[in-house]
Amino acid sequence: MSDVVGYELEGRVAVLTIDNPPVNALGIAVREGLVTQIDRAGADNSADAIVILGAGRTFPAGADIREFDQPTREPHLIAVVDHLDTVKKPVVAAIHGTALGGGLELTLGCHFRVAAPGARMGTPEVNLGIFPGAAGTQRLPRVAGLDHALELIVLGKPIGAAIAKDYGIVDAIIEGDLRAGAVAFAEKIVADGAPRAISSEPRNGVGSPEDHAETIAKYRDLANRRMRGQDSPHQAIDSVIDGLTMPYPDAVAADRKRFETCKNSGQSQALRYAFFAEREVSKIPDIGKDVVPREIASTGVIGAGTMGRGIVISLADSGFPVTVVETSQEAVDNGMVEIAKTYDGMIKRGRIDEAEKDKRLVRITGAVGFAALGAADLVIEAAFEDLDVKKQIFGELDAIAKPGAILATNTSYMDIDAIAAATSRPEDVIGLHYFVPANAMRLLEVVRPEKSAPDAIATGMTLAKKTSKIGVLARVCHGFIANRSRLPLVREATFLVEEGASPAQVDAVLTGLGMPMGPLAVSDLSGLDVSWRMRQSLADEHDPEERYMHLADRMCERGRFGIKAGKGWYSYEDGGSRPMPDPETEAIAMEVAREHGTVRREISDEEIRERCLYAAINEGAKILDEGIAARASDIDVMWLYGFGYPRWRGGIMFTADEIGLDRIYGRVKEFHAEHGKLWAPSPLLARLAEEGSRFTR
Ligand code: 3HC
Repeated sequence: MSDVVGYELEGRVAVLTIDNPPVNALGIAVREGLVTQIDRAGADNSADAIVILGAGRTFPAGADIREFDQPTREPHLIAVVDHLDTVKKPVVAAIHGTALGGGLELTLGCHFRVAAPGARMGTPEVNLGIFPGAAGTQRLPRVAGLDHALELIVLGKPIGAAIAKDYGIVDAIIEGDLRAGAVAFAEKIVADGAPRAISSEPRNGVGSPEDHAETIAKYRDLANRRMRGQDSPHQAIDSVIDGLTMPYPDAVAADRKRFETCKNSGQSQALRYAFFAEREVSKIPDIGKDVVPREIASTGVIGAGTMGRGIVISLADSGFPVTVVETSQEAVDNGMVEIAKTYDGMIKRGRIDEAEKDKRLVRITGAVGFAALGAADLVIEAAFEDLDVKKQIFGELDAIAKPGAILATNTSYMDIDAIAAATSRPEDVIGLHYFVPANAMRLLEVVRPEKSAPDAIATGMTLAKKTSKIGVLARVCHGFIANRSRLPLVREATFLVEEGASPAQVDAVLTGLGMPMGPLAVSDLSGLDVSWRMRQSLADEHDPEERYMHLADRMCERGRFGIKAGKGWYSYEDGGSRPMPDPETEAIAMEVAREHGTVRREISDEEIRERCLYAAINEGAKILDEGIAARASDIDVMWLYGFGYPRWRGGIMFTADEIGLDRIYGRVKEFHAEHGKLWAPSPLLARLAEEGSRFTR
């Protein structure tokens, strides 16, 4: 009858099992199967009630997102959900794993819901640029009340079974065997003659939009703050409001139109792209599932500076014992004090309690000298960015680390092949490039040197997962993927200031694109001296034909290191971090422009947008072409998680595709003619533009 929805009788209860691995997504075959088997159970004289559950790891985790790019096929999920209203026998949803999106909506069509204690449920559709489109915006408020429904629908965060029970979404939590418990629950409903709870029935006393004005305003505000620039949370709220003013069928019809508009929007396409891009990153073309990552039972970190401490905390938070080494007892003690302070901050924000802090601190040991790292399975070096220092450290590590230990460097741009060559075991050396603060930032750039062993790389990628990070693989080059593709954006931002734009104008254009901060405000935050030092260390390699960041250097020469100095591109009052325009920056820009013959002029927002974005895209194309990144989408995932690029724009490479590569190539050629060598067009960009093709699929 149906390959994907099983039918069995258990006593006088029909059990319908959805079996569509990996997550039982509600694709066309499942929807057809459900209708068929629901009708069969309805007509089966041996069945008094129906239980719907998921095989394997989960209840359906939603509609099949891959179908969104294809023509829709009936029955739509909404029809399946509405069909349940007509079934005269009680229908019980038995939830385990994650009942998400359409999965939860399917349960709302059922008359009762029971769940395993570990089950999670929610409506994460806003993360895909849509909203619950199978009547979730109508049924959830009726079941859980408006506030709880808006919480789930607008914020898109799943809740656990216990909270779902509090919210009235779940009728009972079943300890032990879920299937047996659900069947027993159904039998009791039949025995008690309990009425079926139909969640589309008219609302009694639920109130009008005016009654709920405060709640609605609260979620509008949350949507504006947490999902800035995104439409679908507001569309979702509009749908819920429709449900307060219209009869169910009319509200559902209005939903349908709104849902289609959202689904076809650029935002939804970008968000769906990001969903799959994020899942692609862990697939490394030449490292298959047969490559077994090495066992990591204990870890070590070299350096208790800002970066080292963040890495230590990230490891300890994920349950790893970690030894952090420094060159003196004083540095060790300072590091431990700062780590404890970070945990105190987490306690203050209610993220952990004292007992949890103690548990995590017990995992951390401070020590002087490398000898303490002899037993570690993984050592991460987070020392000063100086190639000679790093080579020396790795030479010393080589002498004491145990055989098979992974030796990782946290360098953000250096030649890891050269660092690996300082050891007798380059196959064990990898890059683990964390982002500040390392304990909070989700991105981990795993760098693959020439001689690294496949299982060493697999270990780095697994470590990312085990520490709740997104690991993205890069080959070795100056700056790898993340910093190399971002540098041109920052470079153009500073050139634009030299040419006449104000830092505030440049930053406003980029925050206008949806980035959380502008590049110049970010430089002030992280310190202008960091890249100044890097430029100094690379002075010998500078190509005189390439335009140089004289203005950024001059800012540092004048002590304008950013927030920590009270002045950078902006000025800051009384140790604060609120950027204020500073006329001195303009004066320095004019001075540098004069010295280097730069003509100052009025610069349009459009030029700022194009120069900053297209410079990064052109570099991204070079990174892809050189095989530094395995896929364009890997570059995008870096931008989403490393630099706060708005997810609803997909990433810089996806944005490029949406703008059109021919347009971008045309502008890059113009900028090349105008501004010289740094704008040399990527051959890949040229080729794809000429073919009318894209970076991403
Ligand atoms: N549709 C299609 N494929 C899906 C899918 C979905 N809804 N959910 C997951 N998958 C695929 C993934 O792409 C992945 O495929 P791959 O192995 O080929 O890479 C595989 O299933 C396993 O997924 P994960 O790697 O993400 O597995 P996890 O165990 O880490 O996470 C999960 C499981 C929590 C269910 C997570 O996959 C998830 O959050 N899925 C999306 C849930 C969602 O957004 N649901 C709403 C869909 S839209 C909707 O329902 C509209 C409705 O209102 C009409």
